[in-house]
Amino acid sequence: MLEESVYVDAHTLESFMRDVFIGLEVPKEDAGIIANVLITSDLRGIESHGIQRCKMYYDRIKEGIYEAKTKVDIIKEGPTTALLDGNCGMGHVIAYKAMKMAIDKAKKYGIGAVAVRNSTHFGIAGYYSLMAIKEGMIGLVTTNARPSIPPTFGSEPMLGTNPLTFGAPTDEEFPYLLDCATSIIQRGKVEVYARINKPLPKNTVIDDKGEIMTDPNEVLDQMLERKAALLPLGGKGEDTAGYKGYGYATVVELLSAALQEGIYLQDTLGMVENGQKRLKVGHFFLAINIDNFIGVKSFEKTAGNIMRELRNSRRIPGEQQIYTAGEKEYLAEIDKKNTGIPLNKSLQKDIKIMQNELGLSKYKFPF
Ligand SMILES: NC(=O)c1ccc[n+]([C@@H]2O[C@H](COP(=O)([O-])OP(=O)(O)OC[C@H]3O[C@@H](n4cnc5c(N)ncnc54)[C@H](O)[C@@H]3O)[C@@H](O)[C@H]2O)c1
Repeated sequence: MLEESVYVDAHTLESFMRDVFIGLEVPKEDAGIIANVLITSDLRGIESHGIQRCKMYYDRIKEGIYEAKTKVDIIKEGPTTALLDGNCGMGHVIAYKAMKMAIDKAKKYGIGAVAVRNSTHFGIAGYYSLMAIKEGMIGLVTTNARPSIPPTFGSEPMLGTNPLTFGAPTDEEFPYLLDCATSIIQRGKVEVYARINKPLPKNTVIDDKGEIMTDPNEVLDQMLERKAALLPLGGKGEDTAGYKGYGYATVVELLSAALQEGIYLQDTLGMVENGQKRLKVGHFFLAINIDNFIGVKSFEKTAGNIMRELRNSRRIPGEQQIYTAGEKEYLAEIDKKNTGIPLNKSLQKDIKIMQNELGLSKYKFPF
C-alpha cells in the first residue's frame, strides 16, 4: 500500500467511470462495458489498465480521437471467421463485440476467429479471453499498440507492447490466464511508476544508445521523442534470448495488422484523417470450443492437474510459493473486493478533474 493512497470500493468507482463515459455521450450500454473492463483490471490488481487509464480515454473522446458512439461494421464474414471495422469507436466495446462474435461462431462450428481493423485501445486483453473461458472455451487475444519495443540489436521503438494473451478453463476456482505484454515492462506500468515517483526495475528500458534507463518520467518523455524503448521479454541482445520476446511481439503485430489490412508499427503513433487526429490499432480474437475436441470437464481436469503439478514442484530455497498464471489476479480480486481500489494522489487529481468538469457531484470521494 502506498502511504498517500486512499481506497474506494469497486462498485462506486465502476459507477463513476460509467457516468464519466455517459457524460461524454457514450451510449449507456457501451459505457457499462468500458467501465466493467476498467474495474475488472483494478479488481484483478492490474493497476496500469484500470481507472489509471480512465482520463486518457476521457481526453481522447473529448479531442475527437475516439468516437463516443461506436459503430462496428462487418467487412467480411464466413462461418468461422469475420473481419470487422471499428471505425475508431471505443476499443473496449469493439473488442467485446468481436470476442462475442468469435464465441458465437465457436459454439456453432467449434472455432471462431475475428480480426478487427480501425479499433482503439481496448485495455486488458485478458478481459476478452475471460469471456471465452466463461463459455468453456479457450480464448486467445492479441492487439498491436504504439511503438515501444525495439528489435534485437536495435534501439528504436518499433513494435507495441503487444500482449499475447491466452486463457483456458481448469477444474480449479480460477482459470489459467496468461495475460501480459511481450515487453518486460509495458507503458501503463511505466506510467504507474511515474505517478508514484519510483525508479523502474533495471534492464527494462534502453535509450537511443542502448544504455539502461530507470527514471519513469524521463522514459515517458523520451518515448515521445522515440529515444527510449521498452525491451522485449528476454531483454537486450541475444544472451538472454531477447529475440524471443521480439519474435512474439512480431507475431502479435502480424495477427493484429496484416490479417486485416490494418495499420502497423509507426502508423499506430497516430494519423490525421479529414482534419481529425486518430490513434488506431488492430486486434485478433480466437475462441476454441473445447467440447468439439473432448468434453470440457476432461479438459478442465487435465488443465487443473497440470497447474497443481507445476505449483507443487520443488521450490528454490527461501521462495514461499509457486504460482500459475491467473492465480495472482484471482487472489487480488478476492482482496480488492474487501479493501477497495487504491488511488494514489495523482489518480485522485484526475478523478477530481473529471468529476468537476462533468458535474458528477453525487460521488463523495474521501479526497
Ligand atoms: N491494450 C494494450 O495495448 C496493452 C498493451 C500491453 C499490455 N496490456 C495489458 O496490460 C496488462 C498487464 O500486462 P503486463 O505485461 O504488465 O503483465 P505482468 O508482467 O504483470 O504479467 C501478468 C501475467 O503474468 C502472470 N504471473 C505473474 N506472476 C507470476 C508468477 N510468479 N508465476 C506465474 N505467472 C505469473 C499473471 O498471472 C498474468 O497472467 C495485461 O492485462 C495486458 O493485456 C494491454
